[in-house]
Formats: sequence, structure tokens, C-alpha cells
Amino acid sequence: MEQTRRADRTLSMHDLHEIDQARRLLDSARGILILTGAGVSAESGVPTFRGPDGLWKSHRPEALATPEAFQADPRLVWEWYGWRKERVGACRPNAAHAAIARLTLRNADARLVTQNVDGLHELALEEAVSEGNFPGDSAARAAPIRLHGSLFRTRCTGCDNRTSDRHPVEAKSEASLPRCRKCAALLRPDVVWFGEGLDPEILRQAMERAETAEVCLVVGTSGLVHPAASLPLLTRESGGVVVEVNPESTPLTAIAVSSIRGRAGQILPRLLTVESEPSRNRVVD
Ligand code: APR
Repeated sequence: MEQTRRADRTLSMHDLHEIDQARRLLDSARGILILTGAGVSAESGVPTFRGPDGLWKSHRPEALATPEAFQADPRLVWEWYGWRKERVGACRPNAAHAAIARLTLRNADARLVTQNVDGLHELALEEAVSEGNFPGDSAARAAPIRLHGSLFRTRCTGCDNRTSDRHPVEAKSEASLPRCRKCAALLRPDVVWFGEGLDPEILRQAMERAETAEVCLVVGTSGLVHPAASLPLLTRESGGVVVEVNPESTPLTAIAVSSIRGRAGQILPRLLTVESEPSRNRVVD
């Protein structure tokens, strides 16, 4: 978590000014798209992919996260996904997830699009609903648009049946790998691997949101993986603005009207929380 530690600091006057400016943009925006990446979950203990301690520093994506890798060695791929499920399953949402959840629950014009497969946005939503006073239909409306699927779902390689699955993975041998209850074919993680296309309907929804958003708030993504990284560009081309929250600069910094350098858990409660909300998750520097 080197990046997280480096950014763990008292906010400067410049940071506070940037936050203030971005807050005003968000307050007056009719449409808000929040695009998150692995960095939003870093403070929950979920490893990011790139950067000094990123998963792709010590693991080869082509051996673990491609359809070819699964065909060649499904046991190895399931072992890796079993490890990730276990690790992520022990993590809790942080103050950034909570702030996003409350924004999307209270503001029907705000929508979350995430590249994350860790389920922490969904958990934060459940927690916010149980604690807060939000309109009845808001939870369904606030559900994140998941671009890259979920670690906690499986897809059948035979009949394409998809199901939730939070069970630990038995990956000792190929015979113990999870199989479909309907057709007995091998199941695979319901995530989008390198070289695979996104679900066209999910991508359409995300693009529509990007085109109609007056502000695209980009949080904790390296901006290197497309089509997710193209969504802020779409907002800008359609006349909206981009605000970035990230301890490091990224290729998206160049198109951002405001770049706030800091941890998501430190910045988002300041940026998104309104006065009437519980102060429990506000960050005191
Ligand atoms: N708060 C905000 N941002 C952070 C934090 C933090 N506490 N810690 C790290 N970051 C930033 C890093 O500076 C980096 O820009 O989060 C970003 C993480 O980048 P990646 O690891 O590349 O994650 P992401 O952009 O989500 O990757 C996209 O790549 O391998 C695939 O499918 C995987 O969905 C993933 C996609």
C-alpha cells in the first residue's frame, strides 16, 4: 500500500481549494457519474493491480486472467480466484464506499459505475440503507453498474447459467473444481478477463450515463483499461467535466478540470457528505 501511505497526509490549502471547487461542481450537477477502480478499495485492504504493490507486479495476467489461461489450466485460475475471494471476503467497505453509497441513495441523478469485482460498493449500500432514511426505491436505483463482473458470482462454461457464489473454492485438483448444477459443465468466475468483451447492455448503460453526466468523478483508477477509461472522455466530449481523486497522476489527469491528490477514504467524505448526514464516516485529519 505504498501509494496509500505516501498520500496519507494533512490536506494543504491547495487541496482544500480543489475539494471546494469540485464540491460546487457536484452540488450543481444534474447528472453525476462516479467511476471507480481498485484504488477506492485500497484502504479496505484489497490489493490494487498496478503500482508498486499491485497484483500484476507479482502475477502474470496472461496466466491467470484470460480465457486461454482458463482453458489451459482451470485449476490454477480457480486457485487464484479462490485466494482473491477469501482475501476480499474478509474486507469491509471504507469511508469512500460509504460516502458514494449515501450520495447515490439520496441523489437520483448520481450513478456509480465500477470496474471493481470486490462487492464492497454493494456492501456499503446495504449498510447505508440499514442506517439511513432513504426513499424506498433508492437501493435498487443506486446499485452499481459493474463493468467487470463479480468475484462472488460464477458463470457456466456450458449453459452460461450465472449464480451468486460466496463459497470457498476447492482447487486441489481439477475434479474438485465447481461445476454447474444444471449441466455439470465447469463453472468459471463471472468476471471479464483480458481479451474478452464487456456485456453489451452493461456497457450501453455506462456509456449513456457518461454522455448525460455533467460531472464524471473518477476515483482510484489508473485509467489504463478500456473501455472503462473511455467513459470520462465521453463525458467531456458531451460537454461535461471530469474530476479526479487519486494519490497519483494518471492519463485522465490531463482531461480533468480538477485533480485532487489524496486517498479516496480521506477525500470522498469531504467531497460528498452533506451536513445532515451522520458524521460517523467523516474523516478527521
Ligand atoms: N485512493 C484512491 N486511489 C488510490 C488509492 C487510494 N487510497 N490507492 C491507490 N490508488 C490509485 C492508484 O494510484 C492507481 O491509479 O488507484 C489506481 C489503481 O489502479 P489499478 O491497480 O490499475 O486499478 P484499476 O484502474 O481499477 O484497474 C483496471 O485492470 O486488471 C484490470 O480488471 C482489472 O478492473 C481492473 C482494471
